[in-house]
Amino acid sequence: MATTKTVFVLFGATGDLARRMVLPAFYTLAIEGLLPADWVLVGNGRGDVAHEDFRRRVHDALVEFGPHPGKGPWHEFEQRLLFAGGGFTTDSPGSLLDVIGGARRRLGPKAELVHYLAVPPQTFPELTRALGEHGLAAGARVVYEKPFGTSPKDFRSLNRIVHAVLDESQVYRIDHFLGKEATQNLHVIRFANELYAAMWNREHVESVQIDVPETLGVENRAGFYDATGAVLDMLVTHLFQVAAEIAMEPPASLGAADLQSARERVIRSFRPLDPAEVVRGQFDGYRDITGVRPRSRTDTFVAARLWIDNPRWKGVPFLLRTGKRMAASEQRVTMVLRTPRRPLTGLSPQTNTLTFSLAGDGAIELGLLAKTPGVELRVEPATLGLPLDQLPGNEPLPPYVRLIHDVLLGDRSLFTRPDGLAAAWRTVQPILQAPPRLAKYPQGSWGPPAARKLAAPHRWLLGQ
Ligand code: BG6
Repeated sequence: MATTKTVFVLFGATGDLARRMVLPAFYTLAIEGLLPADWVLVGNGRGDVAHEDFRRRVHDALVEFGPHPGKGPWHEFEQRLLFAGGGFTTDSPGSLLDVIGGARRRLGPKAELVHYLAVPPQTFPELTRALGEHGLAAGARVVYEKPFGTSPKDFRSLNRIVHAVLDESQVYRIDHFLGKEATQNLHVIRFANELYAAMWNREHVESVQIDVPETLGVENRAGFYDATGAVLDMLVTHLFQVAAEIAMEPPASLGAADLQSARERVIRSFRPLDPAEVVRGQFDGYRDITGVRPRSRTDTFVAARLWIDNPRWKGVPFLLRTGKRMAASEQRVTMVLRTPRRPLTGLSPQTNTLTFSLAGDGAIELGLLAKTPGVELRVEPATLGLPLDQLPGNEPLPPYVRLIHDVLLGDRSLFTRPDGLAAAWRTVQPILQAPPRLAKYPQGSWGPPAARKLAAPHRWLLGQ
């Protein structure tokens, strides 16, 4: 049910994530008219920031990351922004209770509370306890950023703390890759088209590549990143969720609960990673970044071969790769089809493909072999592309906008559940326990050369 009056509390409101993602998403919702009829956003942080100052900071964030506050209802929007400083812990609520009290007087006692934890995962337990301690948990919706936990043990302990304070139905664990337009097409294309429904198994699919190289560095968030690294920031989170979207068994319906169950259930069939099938890397110069420990062993790159032990996917490698400061920025998921052996021979491998580009508004591409017109039988690779923003009547929403809107509607289908996350943590446990050697790689490259071998006998479709 959509909330009508909402106090939205943003923890970590002056941090990088809030500036880059959450506040721009919130402003987009305001422009689109998708916010509750009456609302107040209370930013929280350790420092003491005056309401006016906070408004200026939000304004600056929107100038930098958009939508530009020159567009849309900025004046009305800013009146609804408040700041509560002094931190928020079990011992001391800072000024948060007072500011929320003020917001409630403005909106009325029935206003609902939505807490958004845009803070590092190490602080989730204390913040959750503090919500309980200071009476801010009852009836509230609580959004946790990823990663939910920092290790399998830490995940279990966090989960216990969360469930001691909140009912599962109040919890929204965000993984914004699930909110991307093209990610949703991973299941829609499959279930809406017989051509793809029929090929979605080991008989026809030779491998799956989930490749998210980034040219981006970590300069603005070195502290968070150095304590997190690529395995936790991307692999156990986004890349596993995308793998689950592809690998799931057909759900009973595409309704929220069925879809979520199918996605979470297949993660239990992920085989724990073999450290010999994982390559970890760190780009040259990473340790010179301010905020990174001088002898840091944090991975900025990871590539892994994942196996899914069920009848549909037995023997099909899922190749996952991501890294910072690589040669290109892409977010590509490719189903690579097997190459027919007869009656044509000598066909190039890895050319019949179905690719989803998850970046931006998303795109779908088909790679196939076709005869080039002419007297000779020349079979050449060709590509057909469908940018999703060219579909008539499209109204794409960026993933954070979509997901925050879902929180306001109380729709949890694109959020993760503890059973799936427990399985995801089990899958990475071997490489957390015995991390593969950390290999250096030059900035602007495709990562450590050892990663190439993971794709053998073929190759990564991007780069090289
Ligand atoms: C975030 C990661 O969750 O996803 C970042 O923390 C990464 O390290 C980002 O760069 C990539 O996603 P997008 O959709 O913002 O390009």
